[in-house]
Amino acid sequence: MSRLAPRPAAAPLTPDLAAFASEVRNGLTHAPQKELPSKYLYDDIGSALFEAITVLPEYGLTRSEDRLLTRYAAEIVEALPAGVTVAELGSGSGRKTRRILEALCRKRPTSYCPIEISRTALQVCRRELADIERIAIVGYERDYLAGLAEVSRQRAAGEQLCVLFLGSTIGNFTRLAATRFLREIRSMLEPGDTLLLGTDLIKPVETLLAAYDDAIGVTAAFNLNLLARINRELDGDFDLTAFEHVARFNRDARSVEMHLRAKTRVEARVGAANLTVALEAGETIWTESSHKYHADEIPAIAADAGFVCAHQWVEKEWGFAESLLVSA
Ligand code: AVI
Repeated sequence: MSRLAPRPAAAPLTPDLAAFASEVRNGLTHAPQKELPSKYLYDDIGSALFEAITVLPEYGLTRSEDRLLTRYAAEIVEALPAGVTVAELGSGSGRKTRRILEALCRKRPTSYCPIEISRTALQVCRRELADIERIAIVGYERDYLAGLAEVSRQRAAGEQLCVLFLGSTIGNFTRLAATRFLREIRSMLEPGDTLLLGTDLIKPVETLLAAYDDAIGVTAAFNLNLLARINRELDGDFDLTAFEHVARFNRDARSVEMHLRAKTRVEARVGAANLTVALEAGETIWTESSHKYHADEIPAIAADAGFVCAHQWVEKEWGFAESLLVSA
């Protein structure tokens, strides 16, 4: 293009991209710790990398929950009120939910409402679970709380809800935000409705660090994809080779943190956020925290949010708990 030709005007950002740009701007100008919201790890590439993480030898979390749900599905279903509608927050591929849904549908026809921000995940989930007999799947392409509000609004009189929040996704909230989130869920439920909550349990630090920094670098790619996504979607020019993935254990928060550390001084431009950002060598961008719980903390957290912890199933080989909370 000639130097005199006018630069084509950038197309206006969609509302989603404008929100992404604004959160990137806020996070990368946050002092003293630069940060990026972990929800942006999950574009199509990030979600595929996360699926790969779930089968890594170092990441025992998903297999542990699978074992729990396989072993106790019938018992969990027995503990639920008869004829519940199941609403799942963040269904992902739907794989982890299969056992519970099969056990429910063996007893009676069951409606299942997966709530997912990602259309691709909803399609995969519907395909994965469609073979279960007597299931009716109605997907909601919404964020968790907006989707749950809609499911709750649309229920018939007397119809009870069972909300599933599996996979220890609650661990990606700070402890305070986790309690607030449970309260918000509670505010949309009727007394007697239930919440099945999956939480990863505290375990030796070496086990945790290996789970978030695997030998073949899938978690590193998952983390770095966040900068790649900013480059792709927000006209960024981060040099990915200048960053390395770091997993740290935060003893105060009892969480594993993922960071992206600059190997040298780095400067990058994010066009759509109208931002130029500089990192000193060794400086990090904090991208995610995974909080770990003691099984006996859950009843107290539940009570704080207006639930009673009626049952708990614990898998001891890895350390994972499934807690059945009843809305009081
Ligand atoms: C989705 N979430 C529960 C995962 C976790 O363990 O915190 C995300 C993840 N991040 C790195 N590995 C897995």
